[in-house]
Amino acid sequence: MLGGGLVVGSVTLLGGDPGIGKSTLLLQAAVGIAAQAPVLYATGEESLNQVGMRARRLGLESGAASLIAETSVESVIAAASAARAGVVVVDSIQTMASEESDSAPGAVAQLRESAAALVRFAKRTGTAVLLIGHVTKEGVIAGPRVLEHMVDTVLYFESDSGSRFRVVRAVKNRFGAANEIGVFAMSEAGLKEVRNPSAIFLSRQGAPSAGSIVMVAREGTRPLLVEVQVLVDDSVLANPRRVAVGVDNNRLALLLAVLHRHAGIAMHGQDVFANVVGGVRIAETAADLPMLLAAVSSLRDRALPQDLAAFGEVGLAGEVRPVPYGEERIREAAKHGLRTVVVPEANKPKVAPDGVQVIAVQRLSDALERWFQH
Ligand code: TYD
Ligand code: MG
Repeated sequence: MLGGGLVVGSVTLLGGDPGIGKSTLLLQAAVGIAAQAPVLYATGEESLNQVGMRARRLGLESGAASLIAETSVESVIAAASAARAGVVVVDSIQTMASEESDSAPGAVAQLRESAAALVRFAKRTGTAVLLIGHVTKEGVIAGPRVLEHMVDTVLYFESDSGSRFRVVRAVKNRFGAANEIGVFAMSEAGLKEVRNPSAIFLSRQGAPSAGSIVMVAREGTRPLLVEVQVLVDDSVLANPRRVAVGVDNNRLALLLAVLHRHAGIAMHGQDVFANVVGGVRIAETAADLPMLLAAVSSLRDRALPQDLAAFGEVGLAGEVRPVPYGEERIREAAKHGLRTVVVPEANKPKVAPDGVQVIAVQRLSDALERWFQH
């Protein structure tokens, strides 16, 4: 997710909700890196004993990384210099205070001062610094967002709290592709990398059900299969609800307008709920076509074939527009046993992969007619 590795002298911010796994991930990383370079893990959140216990529970070789419990930035920097650390983890930046700042610990000014001191240290010495930042309820103001512009790389944990899967996304990266993701599973032995994310987000069981379709997304530099679900239900409200989880709410409303205007299918009397399974967020317009296919599938209560995948942007004129990396997406669908892929005409490959039927469509209505004609 760092796009190739940890860069010398870089500053990386890892943000996320409390309890999501930030300390676990960086403790595991710290011990892993310690095999190559001295690492200092500074905690202002927990006692040395607590961190040590966690390391043992994770089966990590305690003693590999140096550990300090400290909330003074100057002391952390001094300890890092003394240990000649190549990598420093600061858990969390919100607990740190700089002697040069008069503001109270936790205040925005204090957060900035502490981070600035660590950035100067990283640049001066070539030490790679990893900062943990809690996303607080007040979020935007006191949270890690105020630090985003000061650091080289920003990683955020995203996931629904119920799931044991964790997605870490590089929302900013001066040294690699933004939007790169890492997928992990939380286990008794800490976070484990998921090497084939498509397989987990796609764990569909049982008979095909209406309102569901597989979409081929592309996150960072890799394709990813995810299930998109839409539920369309009669509404009792004057203004029916449009609720999107994992996709943009405004995009959903826009797509429903296109569906009405260019395919003659109205959902004015229905609530529409859209969801990307597994807590992944899809910011791509490639979700347009699958979302509308799923919406009509739910409205008509007609399941789409279970081995069908789709991707494509839908324009305001009802046209289906190409998206980047069409061939790679089709190959990913083929790899996971999907037999039919609906794609924008301009993404149609010259030769389809073995065993896969590629259906190229120019207009939304072409795609809908194929599965929902009476
Ligand atoms: P943690 O890394 O402490 O979260 P953060 O630093 O983001 O606040 O992770 C906390 C959760 O992870 C905690 O609820 C317990 C769970 N967990 C496991 O399930 N397995 C483990 O091996 C560890 C260390 C934590
Ligand atoms: Mg923590």
